[in-house]
Amino acid sequence: MRDDGWPSPEKRQAPKSRPNYAVRAPLLAWLRAEGERSFREHGKTLRVLDVGCGDKPYYPYFADAAATYVGVDVVPGPQVDLVGGVEALPVPDASFDLVLCTQVLEHVDSPARAIAELRRVTAPGGRVLLSTHGVQVYHPSPGDYWRWTRTGLEKAFRENGSWAEVTVRPGSGTAACVALLLGYYIKLLLEKARVGFLSRPLVLALNTTAETLDRRTATLGGIGPGTLHANYHVVAEAPR
Ligand SMILES: C[S@@+](CC[C@H](N)C(=O)[O-])C[C@H]1O[C@@H](n2cnc3c(N)ncnc32)[C@H](O)[C@@H]1O
Repeated sequence: MRDDGWPSPEKRQAPKSRPNYAVRAPLLAWLRAEGERSFREHGKTLRVLDVGCGDKPYYPYFADAAATYVGVDVVPGPQVDLVGGVEALPVPDASFDLVLCTQVLEHVDSPARAIAELRRVTAPGGRVLLSTHGVQVYHPSPGDYWRWTRTGLEKAFRENGSWAEVTVRPGSGTAACVALLLGYYIKLLLEKARVGFLSRPLVLALNTTAETLDRRTATLGGIGPGTLHANYHVVAEAPR
């Protein structure tokens, strides 16, 4: 689907010259692939719920597969169909086939309650696609309370709701995560020194180097002890 004119086009772009490249590029690739897969497997039949939707930046990826696309958020806005929190979603049990919850879990009062609610509203055989941070700077929206490890997220899902399957994968590797932090503060310092234009080539070089290091070094690109990840992608499937 063309997304010309849909709000927040910047959220659907991931220039390598920006510090958050390590979060955004893998997130976009993942969501785009999930949208295509949904359409391939189900056609335009899915009832989609976007939890903590903001301005529904990823609607264009799921538009082909969505028979209905409902956005819920604690903060009202032009794209928010229902005002409510993920800890007590204002929708019936098992009423959605696909539940999106991108970059929200770190902002909620109770992640355990939120995960149980995501499970409650997912129909049998349905899927939750959730992303949240491993490492990130403080960014209240409206609060900012939590960071995760891969195994911590797996445990939180296993302990909150009966899931047929839960998969948690880091979006990018350890070098990419270090580059994200370095890039963020380099940009800040350069902007303070009124030479902000220098940040783009520097961050581009950082991100390019980091990607190469993660690809070529098993430890950096892996998930074992000593690794550090900027963002995680969770797929949680409800039993049929
Ligand atoms: C970082 S933004 C992410 C927006 C969008 N999902 C995205 O990926 O761009 C976090 C969103 O979660 C919403 N939010 C924060 N706490 C929430 C809660 N307890 N329940 C539902 N939404 C919440 C915020 O209002 C905001 O729209």
